Amino acid sequence: MKRVLCAALVIAAGCKSNAPSTSAPGAAPHDNAPAASAGDTILVGEVGSMTGAEATFGTSSDNGIRLAVKELNAAGGIKGKKLAVKVLDDEGKPEEAATAVTKLITSDHVAAILGEVASTRSLFMADVAQRLQVPMVSPSSTNPKVTEKGDFIFRTCFIDPFQGEVIAKFAKTNLKVDKVAILRDVRNDYSVGLANFFTDTFKKEGGTIVGDESYSAGDVDFRAQLTKLKGLSPQALIIPGYYTDVALIARQARELGINVPMLGGDGWDSPKLTEMGGVAIEGSYFVNHYSVEDPSPRVQGFIAKYKAAAGGQVPDSLAAQAYDTMLVLADAMKRAKDLSGPAVRDALAATKDFPGVTGDITIDDKRNARKAAVVLKIAPGGKYEFVQKILP
Ligand code: PHE
Repeated sequence: MKRVLCAALVIAAGCKSNAPSTSAPGAAPHDNAPAASAGDTILVGEVGSMTGAEATFGTSSDNGIRLAVKELNAAGGIKGKKLAVKVLDDEGKPEEAATAVTKLITSDHVAAILGEVASTRSLFMADVAQRLQVPMVSPSSTNPKVTEKGDFIFRTCFIDPFQGEVIAKFAKTNLKVDKVAILRDVRNDYSVGLANFFTDTFKKEGGTIVGDESYSAGDVDFRAQLTKLKGLSPQALIIPGYYTDVALIARQARELGINVPMLGGDGWDSPKLTEMGGVAIEGSYFVNHYSVEDPSPRVQGFIAKYKAAAGGQVPDSLAAQAYDTMLVLADAMKRAKDLSGPAVRDALAATKDFPGVTGDITIDDKRNARKAAVVLKIAPGGKYEFVQKILP
């Protein structure tokens, strides 16, 4: 696991030096939480893929969190204390993500954990956070099993039964497609879940899955599966995976003469998708958490602030989700009676109509958020064009 340097603004707030380590070894799990708020700093842990095949998931989320922390501290912090974030890079590896959570809780005594993006890594992390009774909030993990890990595990995004339904209905109703083929990543809980939820709705709507092939994260040659699927003449290709794989699959599919539209979920979202996928990915559709074309002042205001802070970069949905999530956590910490794990957990659970960039956030009794999804089309030149918004 690589230690990532804290954002300059966070270092100023004491990211390194103020991590208290006063908890006695063997102390009851949540005894560490008051330590996390000792002194004049509240320390929050962040775990993400800053490097590896999904590096933009981590770096975009981190940019969003930094912006939120800067704003929160400028507005006076929380309970009279400044907020600091310690970031650990899991390199895209589930075991590293779990180790990072253990370290952040037992050595750094963080008051809460933010992350991960990828559901598989969040599932590994959630076991640790739940056991040690420190609240964990995932900004972007959509697999339902994540928050089922226990009452300390939250998310601020929609879940995949809804996302799968949105993709299926869009394919059937809008694209008027009846026969599709799926190419899923069997080593990715998100991909497997989303493929299954898509299948449920698509069949219910009268559609047929003509082929369902697999690959494993890290594969680079998909030609055997694609050749097989081509022979089954699908009218669309469903690829519920992450952007690096999707870009490669798109290129190889086009090379093999598969010219039908491709559809996917939020895992496609990265500035790298069109960079790596080129024209092969154009004309495809994916479901996401927000659209940069949304004219609402909340969205446009966020984009302007983010661009100013991130060298002109346009925020992807990871950045927006992570920004919202830091603010939701801060809001809960302000309302919590103290900063112990159980108190922050209870306050998070009571989150209601928090006005996020990605929509109003209410945490339901399963610790999930009910939010709208958008369908985006990848237009020529790689622009993500807004197609429609679907309410939960
Ligand atoms: N929803 C994906 C997962 O659960 C992660 C993701 C969210 C990726 C948003 C990109 C954008 O694994």
